[in-house]
Amino acid sequence: MEAKKGFYITTPIFYPNAKLHMGHAYTAVLCDSVARFHRSRGEDTYFLSGADEHSEKVVRAAAAAGVPLQEYLDRIVENFHALYALLDVSIDQFIRTTDQTVHWPGAQEMWRRMVAAGDIYKATYRGWYCVGAESFVQEKDLRAGGLCPDHDEKPVLMEEENYFFRLSKYAPLIADKITRDELRIVPETRKREILSFIAQGVEDISFSRPREKVTFGIPVPDDPSHRMYVWCDALANYITALGYGREDTALFQTFWPADYHVIGKDILRFHAVVWPAMLLSANLPLPRHILVHGMITSGGRKMSKSLGNVIDPMALVEAYGTDAVRYYLLREISPFEDGDLTVEKFHEVYHAHLANGLGNTVARITAMASQHLEAPPEVPLLPLPARYVRAFEACDVKTAADYVWEEIAALDRTIQETQPFKLVRIDRTAAQEVLRDLVVRLAQVGRLLAPLLPRTAAAIAEAVRANTKPPALFARKEALPTLPLP
Ligand code: MSP
Repeated sequence: MEAKKGFYITTPIFYPNAKLHMGHAYTAVLCDSVARFHRSRGEDTYFLSGADEHSEKVVRAAAAAGVPLQEYLDRIVENFHALYALLDVSIDQFIRTTDQTVHWPGAQEMWRRMVAAGDIYKATYRGWYCVGAESFVQEKDLRAGGLCPDHDEKPVLMEEENYFFRLSKYAPLIADKITRDELRIVPETRKREILSFIAQGVEDISFSRPREKVTFGIPVPDDPSHRMYVWCDALANYITALGYGREDTALFQTFWPADYHVIGKDILRFHAVVWPAMLLSANLPLPRHILVHGMITSGGRKMSKSLGNVIDPMALVEAYGTDAVRYYLLREISPFEDGDLTVEKFHEVYHAHLANGLGNTVARITAMASQHLEAPPEVPLLPLPARYVRAFEACDVKTAADYVWEEIAALDRTIQETQPFKLVRIDRTAAQEVLRDLVVRLAQVGRLLAPLLPRTAAAIAEAVRANTKPPALFARKEALPTLPLP
């Protein structure tokens, strides 16, 4: 194994063609909790996110908004940052593919290495290109009316000279590495899916577009009449962010290969086939895991701008608070399956598990403790429970959260069984003993909550330290808020 020292986790880089919706927020919050877990164990951790800017989708969105391209990009990226701040998404770097200093040198260096390996060649391409997917679509896969299988639009017929990448050459080796979990695809169902995709045969892929056919993009080294294909450009972000192709490669030495690329299932082929092939061609190590999460649906349909069922995470945070949104994403949705989110469901869960659940438990324990204990108890630093650690190590954040909520339920049971509020009138010393035990366990719950709900965790730690009852962590809401639909 390589001698790298740190833990590295990435989100996909998002197209800045619209504000981020709940589906995107999901990936970011999931990665964030895993990054926080690793940091909390004292590991050197790097968490990367960013924007995939050289996309014709973005160009169309800017034109539709009537805003100059650069201004549009800056505005949307600003909005990404604002959302991350609202959701406590603790990224170490936000990379933009239009960044000519950070990103371009490494993307071009990678291209040169692929050329040197004999894996880039010129050929004429004729086929259907879908801008929504930013990829060619095979004629046999088109839906009725000639529509893209995944997008409600008609691909355009293109015939042009492109540079191609010899993806076919690497497919067998990649299948082998995936089979042996050297490149581990999680969950198992996605591993099988990608292996059967590769087994059907992988063709070479177009990796450039003539300069005049695209609005912007990274110039192909030694041939400025071509721009790199947006996926070739985008995938390289995972290493250019670490300094690959630049002078200072300290981050690259410490963090590459990535421990986890976290992605949605719709971009699995790019990450599990194209990206590993690019790395093999450039003679670089492959990422260790690709975690493929499901889609956030709303009322059973994939949340997407084109379907008009997106929920704006900012509005939800405004109405219920940061940790309520994080809670829903991390506990109510499994990282390995699709998960549904409607405002009604959110409202219900908020009251059941936060206002009446955790919030109530914290209030009861701290109220009794501050009343009946003269001083806060000594809180020992307990080891992290093995099941919780294992879950986080596998990015199975829901299972980690389940564990914490079992502890919260156990606290409630202890309160039920011991009734310290009654006991205190009969045997004050015994009641104080019970309360000290409850506070110590609550402190541990707070510690386990830190990667999941950092604000709540801090509030619990502070309440325990000061032996006070904090203001309501999750206030009850009268009615369903009406969220502004974007
Ligand atoms: N720019 C590419 C990724 C390049 S990575 C080198 C892209 N961008 S995207 O903005 O369209 O999507 C980014 C991620 O958001 C993908 O992982 C996608 O699966 C995810 N999601 C988009 N809609 C989603 C849901 N409704 N639910 C969960 N994730 C969703 O693809």
